[in-house]
Amino acid sequence: MKNLIAGNWKMNGSMEAALDLAKNIVSGIQENPDLLKNNDFLVCPPYLHLAPVQTELTSAISLGSQDCSPFDKGAYTGDVSAAMLKDMNCDYVILGHSERRQYYRESDMLIKQKATMALEQGLIAIICVGETEQQREQGIEQDVVRTQLIGSIPEGASADTIVIAYEPVWAIGTGKVATVEDIRVMHAFIRNELKDLAKTSNKLRILYGGSVKPSNAAEIFAAENVNGALIGGASLQAHDFLGIADAS
Ligand code: PGA
Repeated sequence: MKNLIAGNWKMNGSMEAALDLAKNIVSGIQENPDLLKNNDFLVCPPYLHLAPVQTELTSAISLGSQDCSPFDKGAYTGDVSAAMLKDMNCDYVILGHSERRQYYRESDMLIKQKATMALEQGLIAIICVGETEQQREQGIEQDVVRTQLIGSIPEGASADTIVIAYEPVWAIGTGKVATVEDIRVMHAFIRNELKDLAKTSNKLRILYGGSVKPSNAAEIFAAENVNGALIGGASLQAHDFLGIADAS
């Protein structure tokens, strides 16, 4: 299976910066079409930049959102529905990112409701899981991730409808990366757990996220059961984002 190289732009940049970034990614791939041999590409700009960024993308790059509403439509001030994202030509939505779990106290149950909405609209839900530093020190990282998987994966999920992103909270935006061995062990654990939670689980993509950059990507991608990366900081520079793809 090809690696999914997913950029999570978070709450960064102006419209102009978003358009420039999209253009630079498109031209970088056009200059080096070999990147498409091993990789699928996805960018997830902030809501407001989705439509304009989409006009810059080619069919080689999918569009995704960083969140969606747990409701389908109606009086939910400030929300954006999965149907609206589909209407904007999104293919993916990131759900349960640790920043949302932490700052907005999103629970597994809420994430599952959002993922259910996403699947109903034909979006692929990238469901994020991962332990905190304290939980890893306590040796309960697998219990934490198992609970998150069981609680957040919607009914009827399959390799075609969800992607899992393992992002140890302590590695996000900190420059600290899990060791390749930690990543290998956790991804094997997740693959095994998915057997009971999703159809066609052996084909389901499991991404790693947390301070991925061009210099560490090759060893991360070489680990078994790593099927791509969810990239924050390094996805804001086309050169680094494509450098990560190049490493696969
Ligand atoms: P980072 O973020 O690459 O900046 O660590 C990853 C993420 O939050 O998805």
